Amino acid sequence: MPSREQDSGETAGPLHRPVLLREVLRYLDAQPGMTVVDGTVGAAGHSKEILKHISPAGQLIGLDRDSMMLGYASQSLDVAHCSLHQASYAELPEILEKLELSTVDRVLLDLGLSSDQLADDDRGFGFESQGPLDLRFDISRGKPAWKLIEECNEAELADILHNWGEERFSKQIAKRLTEQRTKAPVRTAAELVQAVCEAVPGAARSQARKNPATRVFQALRIAVNDELQHLEEFLQEGLFSSLSPGGKAVVISFHSLEDRLVKNAFRDVKRWQNLTTKPVTASAVEQKVNPRSRTAKLRAAIRL
Ligand SMILES: C[S@@+](CC[C@H](N)C(=O)[O-])C[C@H]1O[C@@H](n2cnc3c(N)ncnc32)[C@H](O)[C@@H]1O
Repeated sequence: MPSREQDSGETAGPLHRPVLLREVLRYLDAQPGMTVVDGTVGAAGHSKEILKHISPAGQLIGLDRDSMMLGYASQSLDVAHCSLHQASYAELPEILEKLELSTVDRVLLDLGLSSDQLADDDRGFGFESQGPLDLRFDISRGKPAWKLIEECNEAELADILHNWGEERFSKQIAKRLTEQRTKAPVRTAAELVQAVCEAVPGAARSQARKNPATRVFQALRIAVNDELQHLEEFLQEGLFSSLSPGGKAVVISFHSLEDRLVKNAFRDVKRWQNLTTKPVTASAVEQKVNPRSRTAKLRAAIRL
């Protein structure tokens, strides 16, 4: 895990490296004077570059559900040309209404999680994190993951792990998590990893190329943040209605559940001219320098 502290002990800037940056800029094709929405602004790695293309007259609207990430974004961006909002991209139509804008020229979504959230020990995103297993982007809404584990019955928990993590051992893991609730309830990420490792058969554990708890974390994070619901809702209506005709949308996803939704949305030929029949993936060089990019899939489309 990269550390936020530099050798001098001073706090460094954001850790997150934007994925597929060159490809985002190419497909987004932002021009001077345009209004661009970065619906998942994060540490503004993409936005900072987009702003250079639309300046001086353009405007960038950055949204994020996480106030910590908006803090990073505000340090990186020239605030004279952008506005930042703590909101889900699913709320974009309401945000535009407040800004008295009917539509925008470009929309970018870079889904999932930032390296800065992963490194924050208080949020539970990292496997070794010792803080509470929270997993929410916006900690002022909903309930943390440890509470979800505590409140769901075994079948509900197994469904979450199966549906949103596509986890092979969902039933075994759900059984383990509910059984240990009375004596050793899971409260931290590290405890969750331990419980999953004990529930998954040894052979599967030793053959796994990634941490055996990867899919469990994905499923719980999707559940506590309602991630797929936000994405589906936005792809069905908000994205189309917020873009001007001829406007472009670029979406980067990190797992098959998200990518399937994006692929299906852009297949609607009455609404979209699909620019990527196959998803764009990171080059071998980018995958080497930024391992997060290995699972990234970019799709782009023009709003008809
Ligand atoms: C992969 S990071 C974005 C990184 C950013 N593109 C950059 O280059 O710095 C994803 C961000 O999306 C945010 N996020 C996740 N779901 C969201 C949603 N429904 N609406 C707005 N932001 C969301 C997360 O809090 C996180 O900061």
